[in-house]
Amino acid sequence: NVARRSYHEKVLDHYSRPRNVGSMLKTDVDVGTGLVGAPACGDVMKLQIRVDPANNTIADVKFKTFGCGSAIASSSYLTELVRGMTLEEAGRIKNTEIAKELCLPPVKLHCSMLAEDAIKSAISNYYTKNPQAKPTSLAGT
Ligand code: FES
Ligand code: FES
Repeated sequence: NVARRSYHEKVLDHYSRPRNVGSMLKTDVDVGTGLVGAPACGDVMKLQIRVDPANNTIADVKFKTFGCGSAIASSSYLTELVRGMTLEEAGRIKNTEIAKELCLPPVKLHCSMLAEDAIKSAISNYYTKNPQAKPTSLAGT
């Protein structure tokens, strides 16, 4: 079926032409870094966001994934998804949204989980460096 095939092509497209690969300076105060691993396979994903403090939105995003094609595609897709989002919006992204968009089979679900973990970890690192930016609803978490 056509829809399925186009989803499949999205995985291949993100895998062969990953968007936003790279690194930012970890010590920059406006950069949040997430580094996560998948216990199931040992793959590792680093995701970094640069936040515009004026409105708490993600101004830039970079990733490096040492992992399978689905993990690379998941992180590449995630970078396109979160650019321009507020930190709160980005923190609500579920791996199932990524898996659905890329049509990942069940055995590859944990690859998209890596992307969800990575953005959450990057956001939490940013809040650690910039406690004043943390929404009050998250205070103490
Ligand atoms: Fe399409 Fe694996 S490349 S599901
Ligand atoms: Fe482990 Fe894809 S197989 S991240």
